[in-house]
Amino acid sequence: MFNQLADSELILNEDGSIYHLNLLPEDIAEKIILVGDPDRVAKVSKHFDKVEIKKNKREFYTHTGILRGERITVMSTGIGTENIDIVMNELDALVNIDLQKKEIKSQKTSLKLFRMGTCGSVNPDVEVDNMLVTQNVVGLDGLMNFYKDYQFENEFSRSFYQKFPYDKIKSMLYFSEWSEELGNLYKDAKYHGNTATFPGFYAPQGRQLRLEATDEKFLETLNDLGITNFEMETSAIYAFSKLLGHQAITVNNVIANRRRGEFSKDHHASEQNLIEWVLERVVK
Ligand code: URA
Repeated sequence: MFNQLADSELILNEDGSIYHLNLLPEDIAEKIILVGDPDRVAKVSKHFDKVEIKKNKREFYTHTGILRGERITVMSTGIGTENIDIVMNELDALVNIDLQKKEIKSQKTSLKLFRMGTCGSVNPDVEVDNMLVTQNVVGLDGLMNFYKDYQFENEFSRSFYQKFPYDKIKSMLYFSEWSEELGNLYKDAKYHGNTATFPGFYAPQGRQLRLEATDEKFLETLNDLGITNFEMETSAIYAFSKLLGHQAITVNNVIANRRRGEFSKDHHASEQNLIEWVLERVVK
């Protein structure tokens, strides 16, 4: 690891902002709500008392403002852990690297990250339109295998890994868990789940349109291993937070019950409810 980063490694825009997020260090708060959908950013920030910063590039939209006297940021990540790789590295660079000198700071800042998303349940008893906080997560997307020494083990991960029957995928698995310090949301959520994060929405999550998935019984098998829900971002958010010293928690609105074939009857109302529910608990 080098303290002085080359121009090719830490890429900046002409105005000195970080390349993909298009942000300067002063553009973000230490509390950040991460959503997938760029359109959701304005739906969240309209609840702020004041919006001070609005910036965007590609799928990364950022609004920073004040809510009940506290500075707060909401940012869209787009879909998937490959985007989370960019978001987490660049957010960390904004607070922990001197962008002008391209040097890693000796004193580190810890961000508080709240992912507000949607998921599908694979436990038939987990009902749509309710909040589910991810306690444990297994990444089937493989991302953290590219980072040296990323390892995480607890009771859930050991048991899951031992029983996981798909040999081809087994070598890619990685695990993480929520940050207790952000437990406010945890306490009030209806469900506390073990989430599986995938590198796709269709066959990786057992959905079949014109193409068959490798295993018809995928949902049942994962539910038997203790998985409650499927989505596409949390494994990387939790794992990067552990590696980089940030705190993170995911609250997902359950929009589909995959085992019962049900989808939310009004996902717009459900999204509105999720936003208000999270904002009430992120800033008191
Ligand atoms: N997001 C996912 O990745 N899967 C679902 O089923 C719902 C939301």
